[in-house]
Amino acid sequence: MKLLIKNGVIVTPNGEKKSDLLIENDKISRIAPAIDEKCKTVDASGKHVLAGLIDMHVHLREPGFEGKEDIESGCKAAVKGGVTQVCCMPNTNPVNDNAVVTTYIKHRANEVNLCKVNPVGCITKGQEGESLSDIGKMKSAGIVAISDDGKSVDNSLIMRLAMEYANGFNLKCLCHCEDKKLVDGGVVNEGYNSTLAGLKGSPRAAEDIMIARDIALSESLDIPVHICHVSTYSGVELIRNAKKRGVKVTAETCPHYFILTDDIITSYDTNTKVNPPVREDRDRQAIIAGLKDGTLDCIVTDHAPHSQKDKQVEYNLAAFGISGIETSFALSYTYLVKTGIMSLQELSKKMSKNPANILSLDGGEIKEGAVADITIVDLNKKYTIDGNKFVSKGKNTPFNGYEVFGEVNYTIVDGEIKYADGGK
Ligand code: DOR
Ligand code: ZN
Repeated sequence: MKLLIKNGVIVTPNGEKKSDLLIENDKISRIAPAIDEKCKTVDASGKHVLAGLIDMHVHLREPGFEGKEDIESGCKAAVKGGVTQVCCMPNTNPVNDNAVVTTYIKHRANEVNLCKVNPVGCITKGQEGESLSDIGKMKSAGIVAISDDGKSVDNSLIMRLAMEYANGFNLKCLCHCEDKKLVDGGVVNEGYNSTLAGLKGSPRAAEDIMIARDIALSESLDIPVHICHVSTYSGVELIRNAKKRGVKVTAETCPHYFILTDDIITSYDTNTKVNPPVREDRDRQAIIAGLKDGTLDCIVTDHAPHSQKDKQVEYNLAAFGISGIETSFALSYTYLVKTGIMSLQELSKKMSKNPANILSLDGGEIKEGAVADITIVDLNKKYTIDGNKFVSKGKNTPFNGYEVFGEVNYTIVDGEIKYADGGK
């Protein structure tokens, strides 16, 4: 099977160049100025051809919470968002703390056959923070990392053992950093706006304490660690300093942390409720600086779809989370590249190559011989975000009405077109 992409601007870590690109079976076989082949052809004139986006932090909800999302709807949303590969968090029901659940997820993802789905296994049994799950067996079944995402592992000894044990299987811990006791029921960032809104605040320190602990464990053990969804200026600073000392720490953030501030919570729109919470402009600026100087390695969505009934309630009762996988490219392009903060190449690295490197995944780069996971976008196309048009079951976005640039036209996985906005 061959597929020819003609006249697109190809974005690689080395630059941008107008070229044709030929795919044979599941690999990129040639990149050259003018390729003529009698085969299925995609006209990419005026469009950019990027390495397929890799979102290493999503919640697909299946098994157990199919009212919020399932593997099929989540994968449809992913390819619509240009995402060729996701890592799905284990806070399902049952949680993914054993090989049976891991195998089930892989099996369903194969049936759905849209994007690649890499399960993340629980660090602890039942995600309860008390004893280690069957990490080795889950690795054999296909997990690519471990995490208790949604919760921190409070017990530092368990966390240390998890890092050591997982490292033996070449797996990283993806750390959701939250000192629950210090959060103490907080639902938004603690500050002026929480006081104004009369909503209980959660201090930065609740996140920073756990970031500092996990860095300390990583440093003392000399084992790599990855920090999830960084939201605080002080967390960025902890990671920056650790990297300077040579600690093997990597980190991610999400579009809501570099676009929004807690000014929006006074609307009481529950779509703004997310954990960790969006914080102040000082944090937002520091996250941008951290992305720019490499302190923050990747942009993920923490795609957290919820049903209407989980969100259409009082702010205090609403579920935490933002449905983000369909808007991440356009938001990141609009707020980071259009504004001149970073180049498209740099953005592409944050959304493809760096996550691939961190988790040793296939893909992440366009070059001859590489796997044919590709996203084609129209950077000039402007549109208005409307959560009601999401294919995800989760319509919960705080970005309704935002005007963005960068529409996904094609998502190609293993050389096959999995999404085409104008039909295949
Ligand atoms: O806002 C969030 N929602 N943060 C998390 O860590 C978990 C996620 C979810 O599962 O809904
Ligand atoms: Zn989390």
